[in-house]
Amino acid sequence: MPAARPTVLIGHDELAARVAALAEEIHRDFPGGQVHFICVLKGAVLFLADLIRAMNSKVTIDFLAVSSYGGGTTSSGEVRLIKDLDFGLEGRDVIIVEDIVDTGLTLHYLQEILQARGPRTLKTACLLSKPSRRKIDVTVDYVGFTIEDRFVVGYGLDYAEQYRNLPYIGIIE
Ligand code: IMP
Ligand code: MG
Repeated sequence: MPAARPTVLIGHDELAARVAALAEEIHRDFPGGQVHFICVLKGAVLFLADLIRAMNSKVTIDFLAVSSYGGGTTSSGEVRLIKDLDFGLEGRDVIIVEDIVDTGLTLHYLQEILQARGPRTLKTACLLSKPSRRKIDVTVDYVGFTIEDRFVVGYGLDYAEQYRNLPYIGIIE
């Protein structure tokens, strides 16, 4: 069983400030427009909730879930859609909301299948990015924080389904 209290990497206030700045940036990019956010379950739930609350635009939301086989701290690279969206994307300004881009394989898969559904624009917002781990080149339009190759938990991110409710991003020592 890992330590009960992970060490703080990005504190609550720093997260809140950065998420508000991202919301502002997205709002500027879609002036007056209706933005359709797609939250990748479950890790991006807290990020989505704070992001849309900080936004002044008209927004709609939808959810999908993917699984990459293997339950450890690295993903196996094989991605599967396990819960699909409720709504179509045709003609919409869509932003995928992800918790973290690691190898990039999950995001690459999502961008491919969602692009095929005919959105007007398709962008991606990720709270965290670990560029040193990339196996595939993916475009991320809005990045919260770039971090080193450390396994992080909290603010939606889990280790074996634990720690999602931490109000900060932490590292299990
Ligand atoms: P990718 O396909 O390798 O980019 O993996 C992306 C997914 O792996 C994320 O959506 C997370 O669910 C998970 N993941 C990658 N790194 C971490 C981490 O440091 N902590 C928690 N989950 C992670
Ligand atoms: Mg995830």
